[in-house]
Amino acid sequence: MTKSEIQLAVNILQSGGLVAFPTETVYGLGADARNEAALAHIFSAKGRPKDHPLIVHIGEIEQLSDWAREIPDAAFSLAQVFWPGPLTLILKKQDWVLDLLTAGQTTIGLRMPKHPMAQALLKAFGSGIAAPSANQFTHISPTSALAVKEELGEKVDLILDGGACEVGLESTILDLSREHPIILRPGMITAAEIETVLEEKVLSKDTHFSPTRAPGRHHLHYAPSTPTELLASAELLAFLKLAEPADLPLAVLAHSDFSEKLPSHLQHSILWKNMPSNAKDYARTLYHSLRMLDNQQLKRIMIEAVPEHTTWEAVKDRLVKASGRG
Ligand code: TXA
Ligand code: MG
Repeated sequence: MTKSEIQLAVNILQSGGLVAFPTETVYGLGADARNEAALAHIFSAKGRPKDHPLIVHIGEIEQLSDWAREIPDAAFSLAQVFWPGPLTLILKKQDWVLDLLTAGQTTIGLRMPKHPMAQALLKAFGSGIAAPSANQFTHISPTSALAVKEELGEKVDLILDGGACEVGLESTILDLSREHPIILRPGMITAAEIETVLEEKVLSKDTHFSPTRAPGRHHLHYAPSTPTELLASAELLAFLKLAEPADLPLAVLAHSDFSEKLPSHLQHSILWKNMPSNAKDYARTLYHSLRMLDNQQLKRIMIEAVPEHTTWEAVKDRLVKASGRG
């Protein structure tokens, strides 16, 4: 990362252009959050419907009150603990905030990202940068600069390359604008971790949500274009044993190794992608792995279901969505 690279990015943002930049979660497609025309470019570059609000990235906790009002103490407590980091807070918005940014809602999503390049950019820009994930609408979020290029090509004025993303899944989205805190999108910061800070029960969107406000509810959100299925280990093995030529070639993405249980004639017609057995490392590599498999002209991608444990919740959420079950 050089000073002139960051300065170039700031100049582009100031003139209404689009800059893709790394965050610790996924790459974002950034624009000046106060510039309506620039925000319109984000929606057209992504092919994203206008009823999906954008989140705003800020460089300092003090900037929260530029964008949000009636900020509850809970927001400051969480920001102290988890920012910079993969947590987006939904708060009541300031009146001046553009409707295009919030999709006409009275709330706004705010986050302070941790990646040093994102921080340098935000510091140099000095205001909020609106940034959805830098992918085409419904595609898998990019976790490398190359993946951004595949997704957006010439539609973005500059891609800042900050290497592979450390977290690999989108931030946890926590709505603090209602009576009780509600997780709208699970991420690697879990409900339990948030509850520890708030000393209050946190609800999840599955118990309380209205479809217009819950992120990623669109059918086939975060999905590869290859037909993708999610199965428990035993079901997966049973399917593979009966796989027909029309199912091949196929890929298996699995965190436990049962490849030797397969009949030998199949061992060579199946592409095995062994995934890490802990949630953090699995999350970091998931989108990269799915993207790689999606580029291989396979008939199917079969995914082994992950453990039913809270540390896996965000991974499970994305796998369910990738397999079109969301
Ligand atoms: O990790 C992340 O959050 C990444 C990086 C780039 O920061 N960004 C990201 O943005 O995932 P996006 O736009 O792909 O997902 C943000 C989600 C959207 O599904 C949107 O509907 C939801 O946040 N959202 C934004 N503002 C909201 C609001 N006021 N109320 C409810 N949901 C909101
Ligand atoms: Mg997205």
